Amino acid sequence: MSPRRCLLAVPAVVALGCFQDSTPQHSDFVPLDYQTTFQAVRTCRSVPAHGLVYLKVLANAVAAAPYTAGVSPLPSGSVLVGEHHADPSCNSLIDIYLMAKADPGYDVEAGDWRWQRLDANQRVLEDGHLQKCSSCHAQPPCTGFLCSPP
Ligand code: HEC
Repeated sequence: MSPRRCLLAVPAVVALGCFQDSTPQHSDFVPLDYQTTFQAVRTCRSVPAHGLVYLKVLANAVAAAPYTAGVSPLPSGSVLVGEHHADPSCNSLIDIYLMAKADPGYDVEAGDWRWQRLDANQRVLEDGHLQKCSSCHAQPPCTGFLCSPP
């Protein structure tokens, strides 16, 4: 009798589309290398309005020059990344508050800004017409929904 070959059937369970991935997605507004490609437009400083954090602001190429020059409103395509840090030198990232200027008509009441709250890996936790952000950024001394003094 020849030895029986025992073939183990590998269970090929193709589970495509079986469950919804609830993992937050990386923000489309933040390239992976933004820390070197975006320009730091503000020094690190404490911002009590955002909580017990220190804020460092980086701007994309569309926003950097007009933001630095105090132009208001900023052009569509502007992205401002507000990094929250735990230390006064802005070396320990906690999370990110982001503003992206959408096309005219996106949200006229809020200056057509789109708001995002991201985790430290730039994954989106909250996105869109975030009233808790825009309502405060609508008040003086903010102008054009920008609040940072020059
Ligand atoms: C209670 C008021 C308040 C709320 C709520 C608030 N902000 Fe701000 N934000 C400020 C102030 C004040 C500054 C400027 C502080 C400074 O530079 O001294 C600022 C600065 C910023 C900046 C830097 C750009 C600038 O000049 O405005 C970004 C980006 C930002 N906030 C995003 C957000 C997002 C996103 C949310 C919501 C998740 C949010 N903020 C909620 C008050 C607020």
